[in-house]
Amino acid sequence: MQLPNLKEARVRTKKEVVTKTNDYIISHDLVEIGKGKTYFVKTYGCQMNEHDSENIKAILEDMSFTEAPSMEEADLILLNTCAIRENAHNKVFGMIGRIKHMKETKPDLIVGICGCMAQEEVVVDEILEKYKWIDIVFGTHNIHKLPSILKTSMETKKLNVDVLSIEGDVIENIPVKRDSKYKAWVNIMYGCDKFCTYCIVPYTRGKQRSRKPHFIIEEVKDLMKQGYQEVTLLGQNVNAYGKDLDMDYGMENLLEDVAKTGIPRLRFVTSHPWDFTDKMIEVIGKYDNIMPYIHLPLQSGSDRILKLMGRRYTKESYLALFRKLKEVLPYSSITTDIIVGFPGETEEDFEETLDVVNTCKYDSAFTFIFSPRVGTPAAKMKDDVPLEVKNERLHRLNELVNQYSKEANDTYLGKVVPVLIEGYSENDPSKLMGYTDTMKLVNVEGNPAMIGKIVDVEITDVKTWSMNGKMK
Ligand code: 5AD
Ligand code: SF4
Repeated sequence: MQLPNLKEARVRTKKEVVTKTNDYIISHDLVEIGKGKTYFVKTYGCQMNEHDSENIKAILEDMSFTEAPSMEEADLILLNTCAIRENAHNKVFGMIGRIKHMKETKPDLIVGICGCMAQEEVVVDEILEKYKWIDIVFGTHNIHKLPSILKTSMETKKLNVDVLSIEGDVIENIPVKRDSKYKAWVNIMYGCDKFCTYCIVPYTRGKQRSRKPHFIIEEVKDLMKQGYQEVTLLGQNVNAYGKDLDMDYGMENLLEDVAKTGIPRLRFVTSHPWDFTDKMIEVIGKYDNIMPYIHLPLQSGSDRILKLMGRRYTKESYLALFRKLKEVLPYSSITTDIIVGFPGETEEDFEETLDVVNTCKYDSAFTFIFSPRVGTPAAKMKDDVPLEVKNERLHRLNELVNQYSKEANDTYLGKVVPVLIEGYSENDPSKLMGYTDTMKLVNVEGNPAMIGKIVDVEITDVKTWSMNGKMK
């Protein structure tokens, strides 16, 4: 048993990050451990978690498990969890309740919890107290140890908790089973050192650790050889890429080198406004294959609240960055994240946020009510905004955000835009679907032979969340 520890998770050491190229091992006795058994991985949270699940699936297949079509049919269920807000927690505990019933009728069912919630001391304490029937709990730092963690639990038939709180190394040889044949996630860094006061991520994902550039570039080249059209570089705070490496090489260098591979579409998430350099903007403007789409979390438009959040920028400096981006990339779409109801947020503070939304007219925004996370500084601040006020602010904000999303989409009507066709539309299987270079979802009439290709689409109808179009 190795339990998570909040105090340790908070620590940042100067210890050099080690890149390990042979730490994922699948020994002889583990290769057939899953023979005849199926697995189902349910993923909550962000793209980072989605990509971790792609690693987990490949590891399970290395142990001879095969993917089950549904959770109900699986012999092994893994919940890859998210800790960002209370409702993410609640969803997972609701699912655990459902799985308990399944386990009652299927006692051999193996159940595991991993991801960000597994890194939380409070969550693991609760599992140890109330959910002892779960088989394995492992964290975000030791995914590559899944084979031995699983083996121990299968042999002992006891709950095996194995969570590391001190940041891990960079493991370069973890296999991956990608969900898409056309677009791929590529990690460029792990962890985060920004410690925004509301955010649990620095505790669940540990210290910032950048992958060495050549591993990233090789991965992208390999994806191109396999026919991938799009790569998204992933990190909690990609603009800080390289700051922890012992070399003079930052995000602008990485973006340029990856763009030079010739991958048709290159994206990156998530950017922190603090580390967005002029050089980066220049590089984004210079290469046609770097997509004109930027996610630039605002969180709040009030300088007072931004300070309490530990965001290190002001409303004015955010707006200056926004203007610079739009100057160099006038065609780009810019999206954001906003939190309402942060401790102490007044009506005036909230109106500052609305003011920024009115100025930036975002293409879309993810909006949230503040959720206190145990162990973060904001959880200790007085949460003095009444729930009905939080709800009302969220509603007002969403109305405004939706209005601008629709206005931004309206400008596409009648235009011809490039769309990477990903497959059939979920709502209307007679149509295809894909995303524009600016990350707009389009339902497309056209030839299914174009799935996996970037095609010109004429936009015939626009809504708030999506558009319709016809292949040219
Ligand atoms: N409460 C509400 N929203 C949060 N986010 C992060 N932490 C919290 C929290 N404690 C939001 C931020 C972030 C997005 C991924 O989730 O807006 O950018
Ligand atoms: Fe959720 Fe953040 Fe973890 Fe992603 S990194 S799964 S958003 S807590």
